[in-house]
Amino acid sequence: MAWEIDARTKIIALVGDPIEHSLTPRIQNAALKQLGMNVRNIAFRVPKGSLRDFVKGAKVAGILGVMVTIPHKGDAFKLADERDKFAELMGSANLLIFKDGQVVAYSTDGYAASRSLKEAGIDVKGKWVAIVGTGGAGRALAFQFALDGASKLLLFNRTAERAKKLSNELKRKLGFNELQIFPHDPDLLRRELKNCDLLVNATSVGMHPNEDEIPITADALHRNLIVFDIVYNPVQTRLLREARRKGCKTVDGVPMLVYTNEKALELCLSIKVSQDLVNLMLRVCYSALRRRS
Ligand SMILES: NC(=O)c1ccc[n+]([C@@H]2O[C@H](COP(=O)([O-])OP(=O)(O)OC[C@H]3O[C@@H](n4cnc5c(N)ncnc54)[C@H](OP(=O)(O)O)[C@@H]3O)[C@@H](O)[C@H]2O)c1
Repeated sequence: MAWEIDARTKIIALVGDPIEHSLTPRIQNAALKQLGMNVRNIAFRVPKGSLRDFVKGAKVAGILGVMVTIPHKGDAFKLADERDKFAELMGSANLLIFKDGQVVAYSTDGYAASRSLKEAGIDVKGKWVAIVGTGGAGRALAFQFALDGASKLLLFNRTAERAKKLSNELKRKLGFNELQIFPHDPDLLRRELKNCDLLVNATSVGMHPNEDEIPITADALHRNLIVFDIVYNPVQTRLLREARRKGCKTVDGVPMLVYTNEKALELCLSIKVSQDLVNLMLRVCYSALRRRS
């Protein structure tokens, strides 16, 4: 089937800075081609402070939606006319849609992380969850796991104020009080992980090109711990390799990335993405990452 760009082609934009490394255009365009839709995902490098100008132009140009990544997630939230519930909780957004002349902001990282665990047969309800890293992604995970019924959240972060701020927000916005905050310290992690069911790495430690790094010491792992590393490049991080060696169940970061793309397609195109299409996006993503390693 010819899949040409013509005068009717619509665009889903991806904006960030840097953006050249992103797999999203490749993942979404494979899905759009399979759907036979005259729509393309195109990445734009937009410097910090320029998102408002971009969105103004996108609205006029009939762009279907704007997927937003670092450093624009806070600005995306601020410039929107309406926001979904999760974006309100987060104070940031990763997707903007144009609806009846209004800009509507969504935050989908929490959904994507939660679904990744569910598809792996893991229910966060009743679990003690340690989240290492309370940056943008760690925040989304903490809010989502509190909503999903985790019994306790243990938040570790290198910069103490960031973990403190998140802990205060979880208490104030969700009335979630079953939490403790810690500095990102190997000894504290070893002590506290003994009581945890699930460990999530939401730091960039172990990400390409620093693939030898690990956010905890391997001796802190035990076989009853489920380990979810949201870093997806490389897919098999050192943390996941050490965890499997200890007999832990593991979940990598690729499904989370794919579910973010699935949700963006659904919201931008008002369609329901099938499981077959999700499987296609997973295959495209794993194969692109295999080629990079
Ligand atoms: N799978 C997915 O779909 C998905 C989605 C989003 C993000 N991610 C991945 O998740 C990671 C974090 O992304 P983000 O958006 O949350 O980034 P971010 O907002 O910049 O946060 C980075 C986090 O990593 C911590 N960190 C960075 N370097 C560290 C080090 N050397 N030692 C200890 N902590 C360190 C930071 O601690 P401080 O607060 O002390 O700086 C912060 O908690 C990235 O690798 C990203 O690719 C994956």
